[in-house]
Amino acid sequence: MKEIISLQDIKHFDSRSEQFQPLEWYKSMLESGSISYNENSDTWNAFKYDAVKTVLSDYEHFSSEGDRTTISVKFSEDDKQMNSKVNFLKMDPPHNRKGRSLLASAFTPRSLENWKPRINQIAENLITQIEKGKTEDIVAALANPMPAMVMSDLLGIPKPDVIKFKKWVDILFLPYDKSKKDVIDNQKNQAIKEFFTYLQPVIIEKRQQLQDDIISDLIRAEVDGERLTDFEIIEMTMAILGAGVETTSHMISTSFYALLYDDNELFSELKAHPEYIDRTVEEMLRYRFHMSRRDRTVKKDNNILGVELKKGDVVVAWMSAANMDEEMFEEPFQLNIHRKNNKKHLTFGNGPHFCLGAPLARLELKLILENLVKRFSKIEPIESFELEPNLTDSATGQTLTSLPLKLS
Ligand code: HEM
Repeated sequence: MKEIISLQDIKHFDSRSEQFQPLEWYKSMLESGSISYNENSDTWNAFKYDAVKTVLSDYEHFSSEGDRTTISVKFSEDDKQMNSKVNFLKMDPPHNRKGRSLLASAFTPRSLENWKPRINQIAENLITQIEKGKTEDIVAALANPMPAMVMSDLLGIPKPDVIKFKKWVDILFLPYDKSKKDVIDNQKNQAIKEFFTYLQPVIIEKRQQLQDDIISDLIRAEVDGERLTDFEIIEMTMAILGAGVETTSHMISTSFYALLYDDNELFSELKAHPEYIDRTVEEMLRYRFHMSRRDRTVKKDNNILGVELKKGDVVVAWMSAANMDEEMFEEPFQLNIHRKNNKKHLTFGNGPHFCLGAPLARLELKLILENLVKRFSKIEPIESFELEPNLTDSATGQTLTSLPLKLS
């Protein structure tokens, strides 16, 4: 197992709300320069846009293969034993190529275009169930169920099992907590076991009759004459769920938070101009997706970032801070869907590990917003809502556990 670097050791926040959108911290870190050393966690931390981009993309100097990581998500009982075709997120080019290509074959623009009606149907069904003028918790009604439903539908999992799926994903994403490490590890290992036991017969059945879903695509996929075994397909499925469910829920709930509390005229603007929805999706990802960070390990001594980095040093690249760099984005601390370059945000990473699910995540939020402005004319916050008790630790930082609102 890799050693987990706790976020708390890098930066202690006094409250969940402060961590939910730590703009003041980013501001001070961005002012202090491209990169700084944090003694407590023994990590270098990069904040400025150019530095973050370099750390993520220059794999000759910054490797994804180190022994320490900020990511506490488990994909197998022992990550180190994980198959090289599946563990490509933690491998540098060229070794990541085979695994990435195998999975990428299921995420082509063609597949996404084919899947659009299915995803739209899920969004439409969930949004139709929201009652006009009544207080609704949008996390329970939409942000939580939608990505799990989409992923299990696209994977080809029978609908009645979505709840089981969501439960496993929630456990796998329990955040790193030093004081409960053993309990959480046991829970995760149990969830991994249950998931494997559940999925194996599903794959065997699909091999007999291939369908239009990701598991069937993974059965068909071939790179350099190699195909995936049942076991590798299960691991790959697990990796997709791990990467794609909680992140997308977080994107959806924080986007609603922005519609309510950052710019309360935006909803009317989108109702009048649904053509602005694409740019809104990008700005939400830039402005509202926080604590997005990835670690790399220095491969050879260098001073590319203006400081002496030694082989083995860990560098954490803070994408959410880079998204607030005023040398890249004009008035970065404002939500502005009309800024020219909002698509340049680094929320999906950069370089050889750029998020394979980015088009899917973007599409989910787009379809939600489209269906929302079609059905409703107004969105309103609930006066008694308090942020602090409605947040919880998650792999993405602080996630909303509920967000009541009224749509009419
Ligand atoms: C990689 C973010 C949704 C699948 C990444 C990386 C980031 C990221 C930052 C790069 C990791 C690195 O550089 O080490 C996000 C965000 C999402 C999202 C913010 C939602 C808002 C999804 C979805 C899927 C997905 C929906 C799949 C269905 C993947 C995979 C990788 C990845 C497979 C690994 C790519 C590689 O290593 O080559 N994601 N992701 N992601 N993401 Fe996403």
